[in-house]
Amino acid sequence: MAFSKLFGSALVLAQLASSNHVQVEERAETAHSEPFYPSPWMNPKAIGWEDAYVKAKDFVSQMTLLEKVNLTTGVGWQSEQCVGQVGSVPRLGLRGLCLQDSPLGVRFADYVSAFPSGQTVAASFDRSLMYQRGKAMGQEHKDKGVNVMLGPSAGPLGRHPEGGRNWEGFAADPWLTGIGLAETVKGIQDTGVIACAKHFIVNEQEHFRQGGPNVSDAISSNVDDKTMHELYLWPFVDAVRAGVGSFMCSYNQVNNSYACQNSKLLNGILKSELGFQGFVMSDWAAQHSGASSAVAGLDMTMPGDVAFNDGKSYWGTNLTLAVINGTIPEYRLDDMAMRIMAAFFKTGNVIEQPQINFDSWTKDTNGPMHYYAKEGEQQINWHVNVQRDHRNLIRDVAAKSTVLLKNENNALPLKSPKFLAVIGEDAGPNPKGPNGCSDRGCDDGTLAMGWGSGTADFPYLVTPLDALTMKTADDGTRLEHVIDNYAWDSTKTLVSQADVTALVFVNADSGEGYITVDGNEGDRNNLTLWGSGDELIKNVSSLCNNTIVVIHSTGPTVVTEWYDSPNVTAILWAGLPGQESGRSIVDVLYGKVNPAARTPFTWGAKREDYGTDIIYEPNNGAGAPQQDFTEGVMIDYRYFDYKNITPIFEFGFGLSYTTFEYSNIKVEKSGAGEYNPTTGSTTEAPTFGNFSTDLTDYAFPSESFPYIPYYIYPYLNTTSSAAEASQDPDYGQTAADPLPRPAPAASDEPGGNRQLWDVMQTVTATVTNTGSLVGDEVPQLYVALGGPSDPPVQLRGFDRMRIEPGQSAEFRATLTRRDLSNWDVASQNWVISDHPKTVYVGPSSRKLVLSAPLEL
Ligand code: BGC
Repeated sequence: MAFSKLFGSALVLAQLASSNHVQVEERAETAHSEPFYPSPWMNPKAIGWEDAYVKAKDFVSQMTLLEKVNLTTGVGWQSEQCVGQVGSVPRLGLRGLCLQDSPLGVRFADYVSAFPSGQTVAASFDRSLMYQRGKAMGQEHKDKGVNVMLGPSAGPLGRHPEGGRNWEGFAADPWLTGIGLAETVKGIQDTGVIACAKHFIVNEQEHFRQGGPNVSDAISSNVDDKTMHELYLWPFVDAVRAGVGSFMCSYNQVNNSYACQNSKLLNGILKSELGFQGFVMSDWAAQHSGASSAVAGLDMTMPGDVAFNDGKSYWGTNLTLAVINGTIPEYRLDDMAMRIMAAFFKTGNVIEQPQINFDSWTKDTNGPMHYYAKEGEQQINWHVNVQRDHRNLIRDVAAKSTVLLKNENNALPLKSPKFLAVIGEDAGPNPKGPNGCSDRGCDDGTLAMGWGSGTADFPYLVTPLDALTMKTADDGTRLEHVIDNYAWDSTKTLVSQADVTALVFVNADSGEGYITVDGNEGDRNNLTLWGSGDELIKNVSSLCNNTIVVIHSTGPTVVTEWYDSPNVTAILWAGLPGQESGRSIVDVLYGKVNPAARTPFTWGAKREDYGTDIIYEPNNGAGAPQQDFTEGVMIDYRYFDYKNITPIFEFGFGLSYTTFEYSNIKVEKSGAGEYNPTTGSTTEAPTFGNFSTDLTDYAFPSESFPYIPYYIYPYLNTTSSAAEASQDPDYGQTAADPLPRPAPAASDEPGGNRQLWDVMQTVTATVTNTGSLVGDEVPQLYVALGGPSDPPVQLRGFDRMRIEPGQSAEFRATLTRRDLSNWDVASQNWVISDHPKTVYVGPSSRKLVLSAPLEL
């Protein structure tokens, strides 16, 4: 029996190892997050940040206290053009930095592209497409004047298939998500825009993320240290290593401490262990304290006001006061400013920034610069078209991310069929237009994006029906459609006719919790198709023996009742494809693109099979709902494998129009040396510049500019007393102590101890295209780490390779020390266990056709 030491000191999850089962047993104590102070300051020698540090130091050394505070504090919701904007430093020529959603395009802007979702591109298993998508989105943000793009997302990771925002991130697997996050970050930042890894962390559901009417506080995700490191933190590590400039802490609590003031998470894990050098911003109104959040490692408050438009801030004025009277140490404010400016310079920026040429709150050309206060009438929208030729990439990504889940009787690819019946609301347009529902908060017409802040306005939306109509017109195919799921008489008439191929389009939607669609408060209420889609498929396939189903969805649905009907000849999952939805699905249906994508989550036979679920109702009286992650690392396919539950479509599964065979696995050991824990300590915290303690120096300079209502300023409301500065002094003595600190054993470069990336093993295998069509194949590498609490297998490598018919190609992947390690709670480091390990290669998580022992 092995007891795991905890992330927070008091949450006790006992892991009881039995033959091939790990039961994670919950004990009575309440989860608690241990303190970690002081807040780490930037390291001038951090790899990849050296130049940025020098430039930031030069700039920050010239700043006044008020200017530094201005940089850290948002100006308030709808106080300027972007969803988040910090105060400017006009004296030094810096305009207020613009922070804008979303992870799939520029939100609230015109003439922008609507890209496929993160979850969709994850299905491509194609690093290059992930990078190109990130870069294209970065370019569009850049061209609009955005400085920080609020994406990509790796939280939620996908603990719950119903999770409302899973589609904004990548896969229900940390390794694939880590690749998706890192490639996207690199793409974005190569354009000069700072990426933002969000939402940090264990933000796995929408219900209660910000509390709720009947509970005192936001939900607490209670996670043990091992699970945190091996599962939820994993992709964020990749983002840090990729050089991400910013993080967004999430709304929820983690072990009963709010993520944006959780010193263990921000100071301890992110900035100390992972050596993150950029800045942490709060999610919008996720800050719950002033001094406490500052010393716990928060660097920027968004959107600046305590509650939207209340004109008050935990920082701004209060941060100025708190530094003057010593509640918050000077080094901490300097470090906040350093981190923000270093991220800015690291991504290649210069102080003189182009104008922000759009406004989030109106499409009018002229209007108030300060939207909420209705002040500052001027031109605010320049209607700049930033789309370039991104439509081609969008179409390509969407097609290459479409997963072929079933294909019988050569139903696909279509070859000029005689008669196509296109069925289902999901094939057609939203009668209100593609942007007819604000933040896509409805499920009308074809689903090409979920709802919430993770959206962008469509410049146009090619529906499946549009594209099929064009294609069939060219081919001389008869096409008729019924795009009303409940018009059964018309549908029946159509699909009962001779020679018909029925294409049924169905969907399941979800989004962010501030919008409720059809009773779904962000998270899905169930895993069935929307609009009685399952009934529609059953009805159509009862009459038509060539029924092809296309699913647009934000995650898995339960397809149990119809997927194995012989009349359902093909099933495709097209994710959330973005603006080129129709053309991309036509490319796949007709074989212009030979499908190769793989499902980035498991399709279970029933909801209960996933072993985890959303908490929909308060479970802790009026206190914060408690969500105990008692399943540990066993989510999605890990759980199915571990419990020996047969899924309908397993993680990593996807078919092609050709066939592949695997042979000849070889494992070669590399000469990586012993792993040495990092020792030594950091430098002492520096400060840059100095400040006066004369309160009159901080008065509002009313002679310089007019006061804008609701706008958050750094100035003091009164210069007569600093008493109010002492809010939240409750952070313990060491919080303010800027002395050298011991370096954690697992720390070193940004991302962690560099030896974790030592290559330990190289695995090769031969993949042969045994069919008659050229196609891509996605060989996947899984490892069994062999311990009783390890998942039976976990993804540790993949590639997407184009192979000509009859030809073979070599799949090659390396395994790093990190890939083979477990997090050891006692030593707070990564350790390779003595358990015998096996490596597997195959086309999905359950078709592991090749295997070999790993000799370490
Ligand atoms: C969301 C973030 C988003 C922010 C700004 C929040 O409600 O959780 O993902 O970036 O709003 O719109």
